Amino acid sequence: MGKEPSIREFCINLLDQGDLASKLAPPRTAHGAPLADNDPGQAIFRSHPAREPKLSLSSGAEPLPRPGQLRQAEARARCLARFAHHELMAVELFAWALLRWPDLPAELRRLWLATLAEEQIHCRLYLDRLAAHGSDLSEHCRSDYFWKQLPAIEGSPHGPKAFLAAMGLTLEQANLDFTLVYRDGFREAGDLQSAQVCQRVHDDEVLHVRRAAEWLIRLSPEHGEDGVAAYEESVPFPLAANRAKGRRFDQKARRSAGLSEAFIEHVRTARSSQQVAGSTKPS
Ligand SMILES: [Fe+2]
Ligand SMILES: [Fe+2]
Repeated sequence: MGKEPSIREFCINLLDQGDLASKLAPPRTAHGAPLADNDPGQAIFRSHPAREPKLSLSSGAEPLPRPGQLRQAEARARCLARFAHHELMAVELFAWALLRWPDLPAELRRLWLATLAEEQIHCRLYLDRLAAHGSDLSEHCRSDYFWKQLPAIEGSPHGPKAFLAAMGLTLEQANLDFTLVYRDGFREAGDLQSAQVCQRVHDDEVLHVRRAAEWLIRLSPEHGEDGVAAYEESVPFPLAANRAKGRRFDQKARRSAGLSEAFIEHVRTARSSQQVAGSTKPS
């Protein structure tokens, strides 16, 4: 039996192997223990993940079916594929971050690895539902939306804080809303199993947002407990508070994630720059 990989080797393998099995292999030893982080090494940068042809990334995306369209099996499959692929990109981006910042506190690296493992589980859960609809990822558009945010994160002077603000406090915070909207859509369409997966992902996402919020504060001592200031300073454009939410704003989940009332209100009332520009014009 070969030597167990370190976290670093595990993440390199995950990004450099293009097949799904390599990307969804859990970060554990053969005995089920968490991988050791004894060799974080030098920072490694990857601009994109390896993907075998049937999983290749494309730019741009088809519109996501609306919740009301989920009575059609074809729309459910398209939706499940989209969500599964978002999870797969989240898996890759946490591996990217672990390689990019080897010198972060061990506790934060351990949490990122735990999050990565949870994203793998979410991906599998959606893929299982997709398989139950007789389909798989190769049959659907695989937008590079998360990877597209990478140059902004990499180019930010705020390093890992930009990653926490972009991934945890924008994309994952928005998913608190989307998971519940689509849970209800699947439920109304009679697909209770897919609804359950959305609920499970939502519940884990509360924890992921909490981890990001706590660590952004810890890494931003100059802002004290002011989460809004820490977020606004670190979040890389074009990600911003107006993208940290869906149409149905779930206050309760944000409170469970430990976001302050001020931060929740900041996100709830955030408008896109276009809206702001439009509102200043005389009507
Ligand atoms: Fe997830
Ligand atoms: Fe997540």
